[in-house]
Amino acid sequence: MTSATTDHDTTGQAGSADAVPATYPPEGAFIATANAGAALYDRAEADRLEFWAEQAGQLHWDQPWTQVLDWSDAPVAKWFADGKLNVAYNCVDRHVLDGHGDQIAIHWEGEPGDSRDITYNDLLAEVSRAANYLTELGLEAGDRVAIYMPMVPEAIVSMLACARLGLTHSVVFAGFSPTALRQRVDDASARLIITTDGQWRRGMAAPLKAAVDEALGGEPSSVEHVLVVRRTNIDVPWTDGRDLWWHDTVTNADADHQAQAFDAEHPLFILYTSGTTGKPKGILHTSGGYLTQAAYTHHNVFDHKAGQDVYWCTADIGWVTGHSYIVYGPLANRATQVVYEGTPNSPDEHRHFDIIEKYGVTIYYTAPTLVRTFMKWGREIPDAHDLSTLRLLGSVGEPINPEAWRWYRDVIGGNRTPIVDTWWQTETGAIMISPLPGVTATKPGAAMAALPGISAKIVDDAGAELDHGASGLLVLDQPWPSMLRGIWGDMDRFRETYWDRFANDGWYFAGDGAKFDTDGALWVLGRVDDVMNVSGHRISTAEVESALVGHTDVAEAAVVGATDATTGQAIVAFVIRTANAAHSGDTLTAELIAAVSQEISPIARPREIHIVPELPKTRSGKIMRRLLRDVAEGRELGDTSTLVDPQVFEAIARG
Ligand code: WTA
Repeated sequence: MTSATTDHDTTGQAGSADAVPATYPPEGAFIATANAGAALYDRAEADRLEFWAEQAGQLHWDQPWTQVLDWSDAPVAKWFADGKLNVAYNCVDRHVLDGHGDQIAIHWEGEPGDSRDITYNDLLAEVSRAANYLTELGLEAGDRVAIYMPMVPEAIVSMLACARLGLTHSVVFAGFSPTALRQRVDDASARLIITTDGQWRRGMAAPLKAAVDEALGGEPSSVEHVLVVRRTNIDVPWTDGRDLWWHDTVTNADADHQAQAFDAEHPLFILYTSGTTGKPKGILHTSGGYLTQAAYTHHNVFDHKAGQDVYWCTADIGWVTGHSYIVYGPLANRATQVVYEGTPNSPDEHRHFDIIEKYGVTIYYTAPTLVRTFMKWGREIPDAHDLSTLRLLGSVGEPINPEAWRWYRDVIGGNRTPIVDTWWQTETGAIMISPLPGVTATKPGAAMAALPGISAKIVDDAGAELDHGASGLLVLDQPWPSMLRGIWGDMDRFRETYWDRFANDGWYFAGDGAKFDTDGALWVLGRVDDVMNVSGHRISTAEVESALVGHTDVAEAAVVGATDATTGQAIVAFVIRTANAAHSGDTLTAELIAAVSQEISPIARPREIHIVPELPKTRSGKIMRRLLRDVAEGRELGDTSTLVDPQVFEAIARG
């Protein structure tokens, strides 16, 4: 345990205008009932593997394991390898069998204002129907299924039905373009796509099934069927034989289904994420270890109490946060949770606070970008609501700046709730670094410490551990249960990306910079590679550059993430036109923005595109992104002495 967790100092006097506490120790009443006490660190310290065995023991295993960890094939871990379990049984059936079938699992809130309360009994029936129908379609354990859906209950049902049958799901965020969907479907050779006719966005029905048709047009694909949930009632193009309505098929299927157990290392899902090259990586997660850590962290970090709390994670199931903290962690822990379909400002900026009030939300987990958006909208909006049910707030996706952290606690949390700033990644599968709310005296902006059972170091390029106060690279020096098991179809890339950097030590290189401050609190400082973080979404510079140079008028492109007050980072692009380009100026800029939306997603649209005659390059031909970032953030140019032609670029910067 770090010293920061027992630090109780405050600066300034209560009541004076600029006095703010330096740390926020947990309050007595919270400590008294907290799921996790300081002893959890000691238990993990005493015997890490035994500790994880205890956590895994919270799940239902059809066959117990004999070996906790097999690391002999590092960096591919096997956790609880000879044990068998069914992930969906753990998330649904066992709660019903334990007598909690009438408990609400999901308070679902549709964007247009419709809602559904789904009990664990209901969830079991729906998942069983879907499992029976997917079996009827001939899908077999190990097959891949793509899920391309908005936040409707059927999306969660589909994920659980896959898990139940040992099908490996690949959820593709419904904001992704047909091109991006096709790339992911092809990479995983999915046999089935599950989608909806359309999705609600700010009161309008936007087509979604049409995007699937577009994706599947052209070259033949691995997809045999498209299963379509009716959500918006818009007309959809239809391919007989291939396309199937959910309400004609799943809805009529038998609501009884016997779950079968799978190996702990059976592939559960693939989730694509951006790396430093243009091609997204299919991060592979398996069953037993993943579910163990998702459930353990949800229980201890959020202090979740089954049957009492009303939990709400605002993520989309298209991202890992939706996988681990909407679907698997909370449902394994028998949560009652809110799932909301829309954006925070439909129909107006009160929506999230209306929902918190309506359902009496007690735990709220969101991203710093949304907190900063709330700040921009003004505190009158949350102040108009009774948010007194909230007892814990969480943050994820990017570093949370201390100002946003304090505002979150004061305005949303009524200066009362602990905040857990949780660091983790698609690759880590579950939370790794975070305060424990009943133990840690938190510092605004710091993720504080590795969780019990997790080990992190901060090192320099050569792998030497740094003193407190110095910034370096974040590494994970011990395997953990929910770690990725590989990159789908590309194990070489898996080794190169995460393990080669510190191959001698056998450490996982996270791609983030971090430091311990002089009190020993851990601060995550942001990516050290060419991955940008826009509103908590990971987007690679190479991916956007490749979409830009795909336009016939563009000869070369360079993209950087520039600091943005709301979205954390925003994408700023610099492009050089081809000699005989047809367009220029605003016309070209508009076309390029459309090209990026088309190729990737509207979330990857550049905030600015600068058309320039030259990019800053070193004599060896490497683009100097540092200088581009200086321009994008309006700073004086740094050292330009290594540029081929400093004058040209200095002129651009002045322009
Ligand atoms: C960043 C999201 C600082 C980080 C769960 C990481 C954070 C990347 C935090 C993973 C945090 C996530 N503080 N940075 N609390 N949480 N990040 O795969 O750069 O979408 O490497 O997973 O987000 O993003 P991903």
